[in-house]
Amino acid sequence: MLESVLEFDDVRLNFGAETIYDKLSFKVRAGEFLCILGPSGCGKSTSLRLMGDLLPPDGGDLKVTGLPPAEGWRKLAYVFQSPRLVPWRNALGNVILGMELRFEGMAKAEMREKAKDLLSLVGLGNDMEKYPAMLSGGERQRVAIARALSVDPEIILMDEPFSALDLNTRRRMRAEIIRIWEQTGKTVIFVTHDVEEALVLANRILLLSNKPTHVLETLTLDEARPRDLDNSPTLARRKEHLIALFRQLEESAGNGAAD
Ligand SMILES: Nc1ncnc2c1ncn2[C@@H]1O[C@H](COP(=O)(O)OP(=O)(O)O)[C@@H](O)[C@H]1O
Ligand SMILES: [Mg+2]
Repeated sequence: MLESVLEFDDVRLNFGAETIYDKLSFKVRAGEFLCILGPSGCGKSTSLRLMGDLLPPDGGDLKVTGLPPAEGWRKLAYVFQSPRLVPWRNALGNVILGMELRFEGMAKAEMREKAKDLLSLVGLGNDMEKYPAMLSGGERQRVAIARALSVDPEIILMDEPFSALDLNTRRRMRAEIIRIWEQTGKTVIFVTHDVEEALVLANRILLLSNKPTHVLETLTLDEARPRDLDNSPTLARRKEHLIALFRQLEESAGNGAAD
């Protein structure tokens, strides 16, 4: 059996009177590209906050690389929907900042070399001196990915990282993240509410239910990449299946709100 790098075991969480998770359980395997797919508000972002020890659960057990989140968070790095770069530092400086915040006492020259290598890896070898305002949306997200990689995480958590980009850039970034994942061997946990995105990227998809949230379905995808959803009968079938489930979830959530 493959080693699991992250575990939710009957995790319970309430916000005030509302139960977000009653018993949420899943495991993530080392090196996997896992997509967490679910309707808006079901608790996808919240699950990443629990992993990073930004929020305690109300029950159950959570392990990050076998450790409680209070210790395991150091093995994680985030990429959010917006790149969250500091405007007064160039691309290189932003990646270095990620290391400065995580590694005390690391030599400046070493940080610089590492940041350069990572910016080359994400395709920004010629743009290291540019400030965020001079970079496109996709380029800024590449800086955020380099910054995440700079702290040597075992697991990269990505929260709808491409959803603010235009369609073409989004497609390019999906291909890029697969290349980077293949080159680095990191475990990626990628949150999305986009069925096609999950089918193009994932080794495995966890489909989450409405609240109280649990794993409704798990899909394993062995198809080679790059994947073409329109020319693979299996993927096309899975897309239809997921879209139908999604529609049901959204309708039942809507009914709930109307009561
Ligand atoms: N700090 C908070 N206090 C109260 N409710 C919250 C808080 N954070 C999130 N929620 C609620 O928890 C649910 C899950 O939120 P979130 O994880 O952001 O959903 P998703 O990322 O799946 O869209 C939502 O109903 C949201 O309104
Ligand atoms: Mg979210």
